[in-house]
Amino acid sequence: MRKPSTEAIHGHGYRDRERGVFKVPIYQTAIYEYPDSATGAPRLSDRGLDLKYSREENHTVRALERILARLEKGVDCLAFGSGMAAIATAYLSRLNAGSKLLVPLECYGTTQELAQNLSKFGVTCVLARSDTSEFLEKLEDGVSLALVETITNPMIRVVDVREVARRCRELGIPLIVDNTFSTPILYNPLEDGAWITIHSLTKYIAGHNDVVGGAIIVGNEDDAKSLWNWRRKLGSIMSPFDAFLTIRGVATLEARFEKQSRSAMEIAEFLEDHPKVLEVYYPGLSSSPYRSVADRLFKRRLYGGVLSFKVRGGQREAIEVLRGTEIIKSTPSLGGVESLLTYPIWTAAKNMSKEQLDALGIGENLLRLSVGLEDVEDLKEDLDKALSRI
Ligand SMILES: Cc1ncc(COP(=O)(O)O)c(C=O)c1O
Repeated sequence: MRKPSTEAIHGHGYRDRERGVFKVPIYQTAIYEYPDSATGAPRLSDRGLDLKYSREENHTVRALERILARLEKGVDCLAFGSGMAAIATAYLSRLNAGSKLLVPLECYGTTQELAQNLSKFGVTCVLARSDTSEFLEKLEDGVSLALVETITNPMIRVVDVREVARRCRELGIPLIVDNTFSTPILYNPLEDGAWITIHSLTKYIAGHNDVVGGAIIVGNEDDAKSLWNWRRKLGSIMSPFDAFLTIRGVATLEARFEKQSRSAMEIAEFLEDHPKVLEVYYPGLSSSPYRSVADRLFKRRLYGGVLSFKVRGGQREAIEVLRGTEIIKSTPSLGGVESLLTYPIWTAAKNMSKEQLDALGIGENLLRLSVGLEDVEDLKEDLDKALSRI
């Protein structure tokens, strides 16, 4: 089996020997000849499914899917127009009236909001704290489908996905693992028995803050067919141009993720010693309660490029820091080449009650940083300057 950095570049398998082209072209077409004019038979894609319309199959999208299936050690992959399109398609494919869906209280807000909105179709959404123990406890209660994120946001906890997946298998509960923050460089949920792995490709995989996309990676062909059909009906496939940009982005995933993780570690240590910082949340820190689970779960001694910290003071001081950086831009995404700072009370935790915020330890003085590819000394200086304003 080839290693991730090789698969990320060559895993699409595209090669037009006749024309000497091995870069994946953009197949900017909505339609294909159907039936095949040479044989008169229905034209099939390499997946063995109808190839007639780009809402169903597209060669550029397919090339990206082959790379992602290999990186996540899956049998197949489906690419979507956004991470939320992937999540919505997964929910709808699996839930019925009367189903119970378990999602973490601390997970991407829209993932949770959609789960709750499904109550209008008779689906009950149960929330559990991301602590592995509470999640395991709630699994026991007649759950039909569960979702976890490997690394949570905004408190950057590492969930023991291996343990959750093991219990889900025992109970026969399909488990969706959102692997967006950890990427296949650190962890492959399918290897531990997850039903599917999901990514917001918008983040590390595309990596340049210029594409919105999503993916589902599956461990068997039946799931691939079923989800393919749901994607077809929902019309949630990725566009060929976005697939092209994502193929270009994913080629450098490992190099980017490694540098971003190393810089994040250095910045976490720098902030831990900073007089204007109260606390730092990063699983790589030796003081982190999540360091041991991260070291057990992750393939590499890297801990991702996102960290959070509490400044001394409250909302006023946090906003002052947010406004005070120059290189680091203020916006709520992550995983791209630019470093980004977010105020979680206004973004990830916007819909949480005071009680929920307290339960998760999210305060008005909390900021989240996604470390990009800039020079780490410049980033530290930028943060130091902004922190000195408070
Ligand atoms: C962990 C996680 N999952 C899913 C999503 C949704 O992805 P998208 O914004 O590509 O729809 C996000 C978006 O921020 C996310 O952070």
